[in-house]
Amino acid sequence: MALSAIEVNQLKQAPAVEGVLPVVLGRWSPRAFAPREVSSADLKKLFEAARWAASSFNEQPWRFLAGRRGSSAYKKIFDSLVERNQAWAGSAPVLILGVAKSTFSHSGSPNRVALYDLGAAAALLCLQATALGLSAHQMAGFDPGAARAAFGIPENFIAGAVIALGYQGEPSTLPDEQFIAAEIAPRTRRPWNESFLSAWDEPLDLG
Ligand SMILES: Cc1cc2nc3c(=O)[nH]c(=O)nc-3n(C[C@H](O)[C@H](O)[C@H](O)COP(=O)(O)O)c2cc1C
Repeated sequence: MALSAIEVNQLKQAPAVEGVLPVVLGRWSPRAFAPREVSSADLKKLFEAARWAASSFNEQPWRFLAGRRGSSAYKKIFDSLVERNQAWAGSAPVLILGVAKSTFSHSGSPNRVALYDLGAAAALLCLQATALGLSAHQMAGFDPGAARAAFGIPENFIAGAVIALGYQGEPSTLPDEQFIAAEIAPRTRRPWNESFLSAWDEPLDLG
């Protein structure tokens, strides 16, 4: 039986744990997007959330190249995606490419946590999207060289990931059965004690 967007959103929610932020539990990565624009006011809120991420030396190494469908920025980002991502990401009304400056501005020395900081900013952006009823889907499946050439990204910046953004759509609009199956599959995570440790081979015991 085909599931509706609302039903899918329900089954993608992480199990509620008291005290955990609802946006953390409710964020997930759809591939089906609705044909509905994202307002500039909401885009500004997402970028505001990203802007306030912590970063090493407050370098704020992130830059976000963004475009709405029909714009030249959108086309440049879309064209850089691998085919399997192009198959669904074109339904997202906004595409965003996250880029990190790999050198510190104050010293010129390498910033080995630049991508870490970009990821933190992207995570805040995605959580803010959830808070606004929007959905974001991050992608590593793109050609950083193509993006660099298309946008003229300087050598000391490194492309991190592309984010497809919009309102969650109906799974039935996806281009093939494999995408539909992934869209309606429950979300999974490793058990807690495999990620949080007190020694390399020892789970952290919090009682
Ligand atoms: C850095 C990064 C790269 C990703 N790359 C892709 C990608 O190229 N294509 C894709 O369909 N999903 C991609 N994803 C989405 C992940 O598959 C997804 O986040 C993961 O399966 C967990 O699902 P959830 O976000 O719904 O919790 C990526 C996610 C991240 C954070």
